[in-house]
Amino acid sequence: MIIDIKNLKKTFDDGKIVALDGINLQVEEGEFISIMGPSGSGKSTLLNMIGALDRPDSGMIKVAGRNLMKEKDLSSFRAREIGFIFQLHNLIPNLTVLENVEIPMFEGPYEDRMDERAMELLEYLGLADKADRLPSELSGGERQRVAIARALANDPTIILADEPTGSLDSKTEKKILEKLKELNREHKVTIVLVTHDPRVASMASRIIEILDGKIVGG
Ligand SMILES: Nc1ncnc2c1ncn2[C@@H]1O[C@H](COP(=O)(O)OP(=O)(O)O)[C@@H](O)[C@H]1O
Ligand SMILES: [Mg+2]
Repeated sequence: MIIDIKNLKKTFDDGKIVALDGINLQVEEGEFISIMGPSGSGKSTLLNMIGALDRPDSGMIKVAGRNLMKEKDLSSFRAREIGFIFQLHNLIPNLTVLENVEIPMFEGPYEDRMDERAMELLEYLGLADKADRLPSELSGGERQRVAIARALANDPTIILADEPTGSLDSKTEKKILEKLKELNREHKVTIVLVTHDPRVASMASRIIEILDGKIVGG
């Protein structure tokens, strides 16, 4: 099991806002699951707990063999095990495409051959000819492909995608989702995809539904 979550709780504002209200979730290595639910239901909070961007209040969460309630070095865990893709690609505007892809590599297995690794990934995403461009010179779909290349930088065990196609037109959305599917199928990367869109969720082999911080289906 690559993700094991038991009775996970997370509140904000001194407990006034209950974002996660006793989540139980198990994911096997190599699965492609989607987490679906309306705005404010706790999807991003759950993803941030899995990716160790934030700490839960209570419960148990193990990811890729590590107990995140106890793990001291969360940033090293993140760098080595997790690739993030967000709705707004979060590329750094004054760095080139190549440099953006290299950001996570400063902490990980490709430190000594960053250019070579970044070019490999850009080729895989069909962006080799854009390596020296700035993000502002790319289309929305191209930028999101750069974000995928960056998420893959350190060969992550798990990709966490938070509404990754939310800002794209439907044709570009389809291409991005197909790339994620291919990654899962051919490279056995575990994927957790968050969306409020049932059509996007249906790309996954299992759909989890969340409402008011609780899993209500899937
Ligand atoms: N950093 C934060 N501070 C305060 N409240 C937050 C914070 N992050 C999320 N919340 C609240 O927690 C709940 C769940 O939010 P979120 O996980 O972002 O939902 P979703 O991604 O499903 O839209 C919402 O009520 C939201 O306002
Ligand atoms: Mg969200």
